[in-house]
Amino acid sequence: MIDPAALRARHADSPFIRACRGEPHDIVPVWFMRQAGRALPEYRSIREGHTFEEVVHTPELAAEVTLQPVRRYGTDAAILFSDIVTPVASLGIDVRIKPGVGPVVDPPIRHREDLARLRHLEPELDVPYVLDTVSILAEELDVPLIGFAGAPFTVASYLVEGGPSKSYSHTKALMYADELTWHRLLDQLASITIASLKAQVERGASAVQLFDSWAGALNPLDYERHVLPHSQRVFEELADLGVPRIHFGVATGELLGLMAAAGADVVGIDWRVPLDVGRARIPEGVGFQGNLEPALALGPFDQVAERTRDVLRRAGGAPDHIFNLGHGVLPETDPSVLERVVDLVHTEGEVRAPADAPTRDVDGRGDGDVEVSA
Ligand code: CP3
Repeated sequence: MIDPAALRARHADSPFIRACRGEPHDIVPVWFMRQAGRALPEYRSIREGHTFEEVVHTPELAAEVTLQPVRRYGTDAAILFSDIVTPVASLGIDVRIKPGVGPVVDPPIRHREDLARLRHLEPELDVPYVLDTVSILAEELDVPLIGFAGAPFTVASYLVEGGPSKSYSHTKALMYADELTWHRLLDQLASITIASLKAQVERGASAVQLFDSWAGALNPLDYERHVLPHSQRVFEELADLGVPRIHFGVATGELLGLMAAAGADVVGIDWRVPLDVGRARIPEGVGFQGNLEPALALGPFDQVAERTRDVLRRAGGAPDHIFNLGHGVLPETDPSVLERVVDLVHTEGEVRAPADAPTRDVDGRGDGDVEVSA
């Protein structure tokens, strides 16, 4: 096995890692959330013979589907193929991925006594297949591998609701009605996430992304009181690993400042917020990722190109910008559209030297401080 520290050193000069650190580099790095699977015919053909869980549990297959989008699109980073519920599933929680729906948990966790169903994760024993996938990828990839985990709130939302939700009413009921149980649950989930991410980095992941996909269901007060301390602990405990830490959630326009305060090196901005406006909500020194509307890829390419250029303009050539979608690739997406987006970002995106990069949109109006070139 290659030494993970040597691997990370190998990618330290890649555009993606340099952008995460705000260091000079020559192309705007791009990758797509949910780039692996769903939209790719080569993924679907593997899925014809195997369930989602079988793919995750078979390192050769999981590595293959991680590599597929990198080969096809030419992205500047790979994201590990697994799921945010994989660690808790390995602890014996009955969670299945229902196609077209997402994770379904039966029975859910709603009461103090249900906490006994969770225990600490020992990654080498509980999820060896995930780590073996990381090891294969670390050797095979020419671009950095992003490890990931679900943030405590988002994983809790699946466990407490029993599946995807629009209102998060069971989750919020627990949060408001039994604060002690809530904090114990999030504390346990934070520990599981920390163990999982540390192990991925030890096996060679070059960066990590914490997905708090559904945090946007919360107002800032509740986020700060009920969620932030746990996500903050995750980031703190990863600080010594020396890899960039990305923090992303959907509909988090009002939470961006708090999500940066949780300790991220890079904050993901979803498509609802103009990129420059979102960036203005993140402190200097924290990078930003995003944020092309994913559904645009379902329309004509000239519109995609125009809006890709708009994202680049709003990024203003900042050396700490990473191009991405504002959320995941939709399954209906024509992969050739994403291939063309990567080409466009690479050929037209410009990165300024850190000293010439425009300052943040300090007045927060998103209208003038960032220099715009036509
Ligand atoms: O491509 C990648 O991003 C890498 C692999 C990955 C998957 N899930 C594979 C997957 C990653 C990073 C995730 C994270 C994940 N899982 C998140 C956070 C990211 C986000 O998009 O906000 C969330 C919220 C989940 C929970 C989950 N798992 C959902 C919402 C779904 C989709 C259900 C569907 O079919 O639309 C899943 C299943 C899942 N995870 C699939 C894949 C490729 C589809 C499974 C299939 O049918 O093959």
